[in-house]
Amino acid sequence: MDAAGRLPIVLASVLVLLGSSQYYTADAESRHVFLDWEVSYAIRSPLGVAKKVITINGRLPGPLLNLTTNDVAHVNVANTLDEPFLLTWNGLQMRRNSWNDGVAGTNCAIPPGENWTYVFQVKDEVGSFFYRPSLGLHAAAGGHGPIRVNNRPVIAVPFAPPDGDLDVLIGDWYNMDVKEMRRRLDGGRGLPSPDGILINGLGPYAADFTFKPGGTHRLRVSNVGTRTSLSFRIQGHKLLLVEAEGAYTAQKQYASLDVHPGQSLSVLVTAADKPKPSYYMVVSSLFVEPELFGVANVIYAEGAGAGAGPPRTGDAHAPLEDASSHNGYARSMEQARSVRMNLTCGAARPNPQGSFRYGRINVTRTLLLRNDEAMVGGRRRCTLNGVSFADAATPLKLADHFDVAGVFAVVSGRPPAAGTTRQKQPSLGAAVVDARYRDFVQIVFENRLPSLQTWHLDGYSFFVAGMGWGKWSPDARSSYNLVDAIYRSTVQVYPAAWTAVLVSLDNEGMWNLRSQCLDRRYLGQEIYVRVRQQGSSVSEVPDPRDELPMPSNALLCGKAKAFKLRRT
Ligand SMILES: *[C@@H]1O[C@H](CO)[C@@H](O)[C@H](O)[C@H]1NC(C)=O
Ligand SMILES: *[C@@H]1O[C@H](CO)[C@@H](O)[C@H](O)[C@H]1NC(C)=O
Ligand SMILES: *[C@@H]1O[C@H](CO)[C@@H](O)[C@H](O)[C@H]1NC(C)=O
Ligand SMILES: *[C@@H]1O[C@H](CO)[C@@H](O)[C@H](O)[C@H]1NC(C)=O
Repeated sequence: MDAAGRLPIVLASVLVLLGSSQYYTADAESRHVFLDWEVSYAIRSPLGVAKKVITINGRLPGPLLNLTTNDVAHVNVANTLDEPFLLTWNGLQMRRNSWNDGVAGTNCAIPPGENWTYVFQVKDEVGSFFYRPSLGLHAAAGGHGPIRVNNRPVIAVPFAPPDGDLDVLIGDWYNMDVKEMRRRLDGGRGLPSPDGILINGLGPYAADFTFKPGGTHRLRVSNVGTRTSLSFRIQGHKLLLVEAEGAYTAQKQYASLDVHPGQSLSVLVTAADKPKPSYYMVVSSLFVEPELFGVANVIYAEGAGAGAGPPRTGDAHAPLEDASSHNGYARSMEQARSVRMNLTCGAARPNPQGSFRYGRINVTRTLLLRNDEAMVGGRRRCTLNGVSFADAATPLKLADHFDVAGVFAVVSGRPPAAGTTRQKQPSLGAAVVDARYRDFVQIVFENRLPSLQTWHLDGYSFFVAGMGWGKWSPDARSSYNLVDAIYRSTVQVYPAAWTAVLVSLDNEGMWNLRSQCLDRRYLGQEIYVRVRQQGSSVSEVPDPRDELPMPSNALLCGKAKAFKLRRT
């Protein structure tokens, strides 16, 4: 069937879907978007081997969560799996609302066969993000999908409206069942190399992206994979980087861009006027041997012979003649440093996004977070400052709210001193760093391992001020970018290197700081940051900047069950 014949069918199904599962209402201030999402298992074989995957409304990737700044989303998630389930909104700020963040430290899981409605506002934000499951290794089975937060019409965007807007979810893929992945990690064995790379849930040559000849297309690329850094490129086209996780970047052209686990970015790609028969989108693995490739077809809508016939296997490797230049951590760090903010363009609010002069603000506190691996309780685990994180039966947020003691331990946010028991004997626990609302904090991630790490902070974006090799020291500040560092929520830390970020703690709540490599997080590489106002627990008149009250539909579990009648 040709493209013209297919079109009406596609349109019809979209309309039915919108009619049944999405509707809008508006109050004086915001639009409310209501969605019904059913989470279920399905069998898919993107690389020719059947695997039990997680779909949303039968799809992998799941439906686009398409919002506009200040919209309030109501996402009713029905869990038909045989296990408890949660989704988290990777990169959304969840202003004052860690209640809806959807991680084990903030929410009770949705029990099998039940549903729960997330309600959150995308206050003062724009950009490209994604959602994914947050418990165990569910995310290695899919369950993800793209998020767009569009500008309000009154806000200028620093580029012309594109002729096409496309979501591109890339990630490594394991044919292995998630239960087997879990068994391996529980047994102290690491994961093997992934089996391949998927683009929008599909294997080699299976995904199509349609370009308009001469048109400019926005591609919103997110790495939703298990743990592999990826290089993204389109044969015969340049990539103009314009956005990274909600911040508009200084626009710069690249032949290829690194996208580390959990990161999102937008590029503008201008299609040629006179297309060649076919082009490939190529996603290759970085820093793993053997190199893996994901390939999709770029088809010109009206181009003569576009997409004609299946491409010959092997063609996709042709554009990689300069593959050697794509390995190497030094090259990658250099590219990371070149990603900067455009200080003169607007953001979600009508003020220039660079108007916040972060370089002039005194750092009130430095957290030094050193990741490592160690035997903890007889198992090989990941640690952070000598603690391997273990989820408590009661979400930390609820324990905090109801004042239940003994659920989590407040830690200092510094590595243990050499020679101390904590340094010699890493422990298992639910670790929380306490921070004061309005503090301006420096977080230094120090990685002494030979593998790349990526870190993500929920509820915030941070300025990626510096990266360097070896050990961090306070003198490193002289090498920081204190003017136009990129403002994002997921950052990589190279092997035997450090990354320093600056963050203004203006969002109260219990926020997850986690490795975006699913295996490492599963093995304990995460922590929570509790941000609250000093001294003031309950004030008579709620401050509009205060955290939102506990939602009336909040699920209660663990030790919080006892408090059923005392909901605020
Ligand atoms: C997303 O929402 C915007 C604003 O409401 C709308 O213009 C656009 O068509 C939507 N995109 C998709 C793919 O639904
Ligand atoms: C479960 O879904 C139904 C409709 O599908 C809805 O009326 C109900 O509010 C949902 N329950 C929760 C706890 O969100
Ligand atoms: C920054 O944004 C402004 C305003 O939209 C735009 O005119 C300018 O070209 C951008 N600069 C860069 C380097 O991207
Ligand atoms: C930062 O610290 C310096 C020296 O301690 C002090 O002089 C300055 O006023 C502080 N700046 C701000 C904005 O607090």
